[in-house]
Amino acid sequence: MVEALRVGIAGLGTVGASVVRLLDAHARTLEARCGRGVAIVAVSARDRSRDRGVDISRFEWFDDPVALARAPGVDCVIELMGGSDGPAKAVVEAALAAGRPVVTANKALLAHHGAALARLAEDKGVSIGFEAAVAGGIPIVKALRETLAGNVVHRISGILNGTCNYILSRMELEGLGFEEVLADAQRLGYAEADPTFDVGGFDTAHKLAILTSLAFGTQIDADAIHIEGISSITPLDLKMADDLGYRIKLLGVAQRTETGIEQRVHPTMTPKTWPIAQVMGVTNAVNVLAEPVGEITLVGPGAGGDATASSILADLVDVARGVVVSPFAQPVAGLERAERAPMQRHEGGYYIRLSVLDRPGAAAAIATRMAERQISLESIVQRRPGPRPSGDGRSGAPVPVVLITYATTEAAIRAAIEAMMADGHIAEPPQVIRIERE
Ligand code: NAP
Ligand code: HSE
Repeated sequence: MVEALRVGIAGLGTVGASVVRLLDAHARTLEARCGRGVAIVAVSARDRSRDRGVDISRFEWFDDPVALARAPGVDCVIELMGGSDGPAKAVVEAALAAGRPVVTANKALLAHHGAALARLAEDKGVSIGFEAAVAGGIPIVKALRETLAGNVVHRISGILNGTCNYILSRMELEGLGFEEVLADAQRLGYAEADPTFDVGGFDTAHKLAILTSLAFGTQIDADAIHIEGISSITPLDLKMADDLGYRIKLLGVAQRTETGIEQRVHPTMTPKTWPIAQVMGVTNAVNVLAEPVGEITLVGPGAGGDATASSILADLVDVARGVVVSPFAQPVAGLERAERAPMQRHEGGYYIRLSVLDRPGAAAAIATRMAERQISLESIVQRRPGPRPSGDGRSGAPVPVVLITYATTEAAIRAAIEAMMADGHIAEPPQVIRIERE
């Protein structure tokens, strides 16, 4: 009779409470699949008296999560506190140093310290599992590390943040305001403790940094990622996108280019006919373009307690079975330092929404500035302004003008916008959203 795996959990919030509940609910299935039981023996959080909707009185309580990580009766530590440094890092380091496998959902920690922690795990001959750190319940980490291990990946992209997709979806479909929908995402347990990580694009960037390393066999380089969030997206942009046949999604994209590996996170105009544009709500989608397999898209719940706990349980099963793999698909020492592709060299189409002072010559000046940089326009849409006192079409009041360009470079777009601003026909900094096309 093999003894049960004794688990300590540091962090009993949205995800931690779900893990406690699901380890009870699925105990028999897990035991059958692992050939041994999986039993929580110790827990830690900040507030012992808080009602978490699960019975934790049967477990040993630790005020200090690092003491839990070192406790003699714990075989495996699940870190679910969050944060790239501080207690979460201390817990993971203490557990690995003690030769205990770790399971974590903490993408911020991995994006900043993943290589050092993986090296520590390798030195100790134990695993650090982080399926839950990327795209919630979607099994993309295992897919890249194991199932697609025989492929050469060219590109990986997707919707990697449930909160942002939930916000954009409800703003578009229900006409709700940004703050109102963000509050719902927080109430439902989708958002990070500091939601700036979600809406600012940083959480997507943390996940993309992990995926890039797994996909391309490169060192994690979170600092190389170009990051833009969704806070500047207005109802007018969502409406314009809809009218023009697009849907705005916050995408994370990593791809090999001639100048190196491009990693970028930004709101993106995706053609409505594309499967990824049809992914709504808290759902995530990850698309992998690889050789020889071709194109694969995994779609599923990207945030929330149970979806994330599903991935935690998968890693826990590996631990109980005694499976130890290189966390980033190969020994850390073999991960290459990648050339960074500068964002200025990015090529693609652009949506540019200008607030143009409605007077003679403005449109011509804008067209000239684009032509000077060899930027070809696919369409120009000028929205009719509200009723003007004069009605003569020369009020000088700002009106929205949207330009859609054919493929060009980021550098050309930035230079054209700078020149337009200097001309004095534009009332405020333009909204620029990159377009993904076939
Ligand atoms: P959460 O609800 O804020 O829970 C955090 C837990 O950590 C709480 O139980 C908190 O204690 C505990 N904690 C914080 N600091 C602590 C400290 N110094 N000592 C002991 N305990 C401490 O967070 P969550 O949403 O469950 O997320 C946990 C992790 O999973 C994060 O890394 C997050 O990025 C990741 N993640 C979350 C989701 C999701 O959908 N929520 C999905 C994927 C990954 P108290 O309860 O006593 O305050
Ligand atoms: N806050 C994250 C999200 C949790 O909304 O996607 C899942 O990683």
